[in-house]
Amino acid sequence: MELDMKNNKATVFSGVQPSGVLHIGNYLGALAQWVEMQNQYNCIFCVVDYHAITVKQESQELSRRILDVVKIYLASGINPEQAVIFQQSDITAHTELAWILNCAAARLADLNKMTQFKDKGAKKEPACPAGRSVSVGLYDYPVLMAADILLYNTDLVPVGDDQVQHVELCRTLAERFNRDYGQVFKAPQVAVRKQGARIMGLDDPTKKMSKSASSPANYIALTDAPEIAAKKIKRAVTDSGSEVKFDQKQKPALANLLTIYSLLAGIKIKELEENYKGKGYGEFKNGLAEEIKKFLREFQIKYNSFTDQEVKQILRDGADKIRPVANKTLKRVKNKLGII
Ligand code: TYM
Repeated sequence: MELDMKNNKATVFSGVQPSGVLHIGNYLGALAQWVEMQNQYNCIFCVVDYHAITVKQESQELSRRILDVVKIYLASGINPEQAVIFQQSDITAHTELAWILNCAAARLADLNKMTQFKDKGAKKEPACPAGRSVSVGLYDYPVLMAADILLYNTDLVPVGDDQVQHVELCRTLAERFNRDYGQVFKAPQVAVRKQGARIMGLDDPTKKMSKSASSPANYIALTDAPEIAAKKIKRAVTDSGSEVKFDQKQKPALANLLTIYSLLAGIKIKELEENYKGKGYGEFKNGLAEEIKKFLREFQIKYNSFTDQEVKQILRDGADKIRPVANKTLKRVKNKLGII
């Protein structure tokens, strides 16, 4: 079966790495946006396992997480009848195109500017920021990401704030290849939510909530027991003062909690400020903890309802649908290079 890309809908592509636990930052910054898009666009959502191995993974855990990420997509509301869900390593065109882009479009000067590599590289090897033990794959990861996007003539890439620079690089690589070898690629646009594009850590509102955080107090995992999640909210760092007011500069921790509350409950921040007028941080956190518990309970009922067998079938079907599209783009690229 070939994916019907001949309708007039624009194409959306995005992905999540099966590394670490997925958290409400991933959900609010990316997945919730995907769900909203799936009626309007041709949506393709990938489990980017080759990105995950840019840092060492325990092999059995990786196999488990690949399936768990799909369950998280499904529990979030992605419908495999509407959107294609597949595993990156199932389509060899991704790594082939990444290699071609490495040679024909990407420059060291581009990759040296990538802030995420600088952050991750420095975290792995703090004493040696030049990256003695950091993999070449981690450095090259934005090129593989560009290949993911460009294979499907993507129009829109819905991501959180931390991936914007990578999508911009993807545009640069597409335009450079087209200029030097002839028109093949569409340069995609990034889609970032106005609210929730950068959910910050509960233990430190100056750093984003992250799957690779050293302490679980940093995040609410989508698989956290609701009671544990509620405790994390109650222990979350707050700012000085007591008034529940959104003030990004003076009260960054509270601003983050208000953003999470507003998005999960579907209540405007102004309204939350009204509701908690004169009530203080304690009561506000109790309200948010209740909202988180409700969200996780409902989410986890769905998450636990899918079997591994069902998920494997969804991945197989997704890869079969999408492979011809990827191979067609790769063929056009190879033709331009003279590799026939
Ligand atoms: P990853 O797996 O780190 O994150 C998945 C998605 O979650 C978003 N996100 C956040 N949003 C808001 N607040 C946060 N604290 C937060 N943390 C993460 C990310 O921005 C992302 O949208 N390189 C990508 C995966 C990828 C990809 C692609 C994405 C590979 N190929 C092609 C789009 C298109 C990544 O590591 O995301």
